[in-house]
Amino acid sequence: MAKKTVADIDIKGKKVLMRCDFNVPLDDDCNITSDDRIVKALPTIKAILDGGGALILMSHLGRPSGQRDDKLSLTPVARRLSELLGKDVVFADDCISDETKAKAAALSNGDCLLLENLRFHKAETIKDKAAKEDAQLRQAKDDFAKQLAGMADIYVDDAFGTAHRDNASMYTVPMVMEGKPRVIGFLIEKELKFLGDTLSDPERPFVAILGGAKVSDKIGVIENLIGKVDRIIIGGAMAYTFLKGRGKSIGQSLCENDFIDKGQALLEQAAEAECEVILPVDHHVVRELKSGVPYRTAVGDIDPGFAAVDIGSMASQAFRDKIVDAKTIVWNGPMGVFEIPPFDEGTKDIAMAVAEATDNGAISIVGGGDSAAAVKNLGLEDRISHISTGGGASLEFLEGKKFICLEILDEK
Ligand code: 3PG
Repeated sequence: MAKKTVADIDIKGKKVLMRCDFNVPLDDDCNITSDDRIVKALPTIKAILDGGGALILMSHLGRPSGQRDDKLSLTPVARRLSELLGKDVVFADDCISDETKAKAAALSNGDCLLLENLRFHKAETIKDKAAKEDAQLRQAKDDFAKQLAGMADIYVDDAFGTAHRDNASMYTVPMVMEGKPRVIGFLIEKELKFLGDTLSDPERPFVAILGGAKVSDKIGVIENLIGKVDRIIIGGAMAYTFLKGRGKSIGQSLCENDFIDKGQALLEQAAEAECEVILPVDHHVVRELKSGVPYRTAVGDIDPGFAAVDIGSMASQAFRDKIVDAKTIVWNGPMGVFEIPPFDEGTKDIAMAVAEATDNGAISIVGGGDSAAAVKNLGLEDRISHISTGGGASLEFLEGKKFICLEILDEK
């Protein structure tokens, strides 16, 4: 059943508490290096402000472990949001202080208030399982949620990137607000449409491209995708756990030895389901990982003392051949040590192939910070159907996990 959105409810004259994911990357001077998550929240924010609502925005930033950390203040987000909206955004330097509640109460229709980082309070990240087992934790989480909920008439969740968490603002606040409208924003609606529709009714061939460092992070995804997709392309360091299991020499390449057997079991499972798994046949390898260091290409086995840092050109071509004719593509994770050029070449080649397939009519979905960054750095954003704002959240979605914080929101 589809969830109600802000378009389905009456906002005029109401105080609206909206959870965003403004967990944006910052440089050492606390400048925002990508405002993507702020920009993507704008359609919902504008709809509420233009609809005559008074908006209270809340988010986390980083993992400050329950205490104030000025480096993780949301002030840069307030500034950027104010620029993007072309109007003042009031800032509250604690999310539940009396002063903040007074600021929220004083908001007029069309005004916007941003609360300081929710995770400056320990209660925000108390896990629901822990709260169920410990009355004191339950009390702390409920009290915190009630203080946030008490400021508003309506709850809106547009924080897709945090949808896999049971943080107080994501789960307990809407629980406490039962009886009041509790809806999703347009960003979550779009994410659910792309990720949900793609998995439930894909046009074929359906190809998953997985990369990144660890197999252990992607086991659930691979298990869920076998039987759904026609091909799984595996690059990045995670490929070497599979290759070692197949008897290849991988030199000093990253390998999760504890997951070699699981990796082989997954390959067998895929073969039984007639899901083709494509692993790299050649590799760019180095003795020492640093910028500008010369690399060699290893075909098949990798010599001792060398570690793979990117897929080679034969692998890149083979992956490309399996991507360009696809009609549905999901991609999560880089093919190599993307942050250190020239070991970003394989990831760039894959980004180009995904864009080409999309030009040819494929639906393409890219999730995860590095693969999304590759697409953006190459200026390919307009040639990808959907770039998810969720890293962990999009992975858990691909694993087929349910998000309890979304389940409790109002249905149409
Ligand atoms: C993310 O960037 O993946 C989300 O903002 C969630 O952040 P978290 O992993 O710190 O909960």
